[in-house]
Amino acid sequence: MCGIVGYIGSKSVIPILINGLSKLEYRGYDSAGVAVYKGGEIETYKAQGKLQKLKDLLGTNGNGDNANKIGIGHIRWATHGAPTEINAHPHVSCCKKIAIVHNGIIENFKELKEELTKKGHVFVSQTDTETIAHLIEENLKTHPDIFDAVRHSLKKLEGAYAIGVVYKDNPDILIAARKNAPLIVGIGENENYIGSDVPAILEYTKNVIYLDDSEIAEIKADDVKIYDFDGNVIKKKIECVPWEPVALSKMGYKHFMLKEIHEQPDVIRQTLSERLISSDLPLQLNEVKLTKESLKKLNRIQIIACGTSLHAAMAGKYLIEEFIGIPVDIEASSEYIYKRTISSANSLVIGVSQSGETADTITAIRQAKAEGAHALVITNRVDSTMAREADSLLPINAGIEVSVAATKSYTAQLIAFYLLAIYLAEIKEALPAKDIIKFKEQLFKLPQQVEIILGNKTEIKRCARKFHNAKDFIFIARGINFPAALEGALKLKEISYINATGYPAGELKHGPIAMLEDTIPVLAILMPGLVYEKVLSNSEEAKARDAKMIALTSSNDKHLESVFDFIIKIPDIDEIFSPILTTIPLQLLAYYIAEFLGKDVDQPRNLAKSVTVE
Ligand code: AGP
Repeated sequence: MCGIVGYIGSKSVIPILINGLSKLEYRGYDSAGVAVYKGGEIETYKAQGKLQKLKDLLGTNGNGDNANKIGIGHIRWATHGAPTEINAHPHVSCCKKIAIVHNGIIENFKELKEELTKKGHVFVSQTDTETIAHLIEENLKTHPDIFDAVRHSLKKLEGAYAIGVVYKDNPDILIAARKNAPLIVGIGENENYIGSDVPAILEYTKNVIYLDDSEIAEIKADDVKIYDFDGNVIKKKIECVPWEPVALSKMGYKHFMLKEIHEQPDVIRQTLSERLISSDLPLQLNEVKLTKESLKKLNRIQIIACGTSLHAAMAGKYLIEEFIGIPVDIEASSEYIYKRTISSANSLVIGVSQSGETADTITAIRQAKAEGAHALVITNRVDSTMAREADSLLPINAGIEVSVAATKSYTAQLIAFYLLAIYLAEIKEALPAKDIIKFKEQLFKLPQQVEIILGNKTEIKRCARKFHNAKDFIFIARGINFPAALEGALKLKEISYINATGYPAGELKHGPIAMLEDTIPVLAILMPGLVYEKVLSNSEEAKARDAKMIALTSSNDKHLESVFDFIIKIPDIDEIFSPILTTIPLQLLAYYIAEFLGKDVDQPRNLAKSVTVE
């Protein structure tokens, strides 16, 4: 998934583009480039590697450069073609008059490329994107107006794209369009912007137009018009984004990830606020449009997600089944979309996505809705494609999450599932009122319990230092904490690159135990409750195979010292609420291990914050 920026106005354009790209680095960072109108020409500058390489190429951040009026920029997460300079965007047409930046995948680019090559177009890169530049150039022959040439070109494209286009012979118009990939237009004073996401332009304006699929924008310095691909004008609302630029600063933390881990007590409060008014009042989930009648007819609940959001979904399954007794299916979005979709008007499909732009999850929800399902979306971005297409919405209100590794958004997704499970139990009267009150009282306590854990970082850091050279790492748990084990493994894997795996503790003896030896740490989530003794005996089985044992527990059982090499203590809590607490130390453990290994914590290799391509 890539990042796009664009500007049209009277200022020096390169610093604006570079600044915008720096706010989108979380979307991908294997190469970057800009195309600017300079001295009557479209000049393109590209560099392989992180954004700093492009800044070095442009001189001191390109300041003072006399390129002004108009420009586009791109930061890449390679899909087609290796992350080299030649494959970096922007891409240009043969005549070098047209430059384009693109986020997404053109599914039919090979056929188009063959057609255009036969017509004499010369390609220099291996990307799908370059095809669009040559297609526009070809269409200019029959549609001399650049806007029309772009519009007609888009009709030939299949797949997903958000694009920005500049044209040497008409530097007073910036063209942008989207289909199945996010793109916004920022509205300034006699200047306008485009961006893949709000952070790219937040410093300059909070007034944005969210383009929807199959919309194209003709953007001048003092005017913006939106059309559909048939050229019909579309009236769009200018919305004011609810964030301040300060959300994009590290606020003194070394990494965004550490900042976002520490935001979690407040994030839990924000996710609960205006919904959990008091323990003896019904929950207020005003954007969840599920009635008593529709719930009575409900015969299937499916939760669909990817990555960390899939782990939140797994915890959600446990809670909903526990609280209302309706069976819940979990499916990775990428698997869901390639099997028969079994949904109906009596199905509830829950899409979980921090970004609300994950292509696989968008496609899966669309497939379920096409079969009549009610789509409820749990997301951090109410401005996202998924949110705008949902029948019901449960915003998690975690604030912009910049670090590629999801932390505060995961905790907020868990809270959202506690709220949803209790809400469904209230509507269906599936639990005794006194239990519901007790659960709500637990929710109120969570922020300060998380603060206690954050206050105990030294122990977790000591554990990280002790085990940071491990080559393999195993996490085990049972019940509602099994998703926490999977999430702890994913966190460690994705930022330290250590081979970390989560298993149901009971599964260890069915194969994985063969791997154990004294170089492998096994972290057991051991919370007092239904499965405590079972996890303890699984831990003793691992200990007997010389594994290095770590316990994450609230127990004060002295016996644990004879089993575990390291014990991470957390506050006591009802087992069913413990995933909120167990996940925090695992986030910190992954963070400190990655730190000790000198990894790029906020921008791990090969990753992107939101995978907007299937
Ligand atoms: C989590 O740390 C990863 N960044 C990744 O697994 C992420 O959770 C996944 O790509 C889903 O993203 P989404 O929540 O925005 O849909």
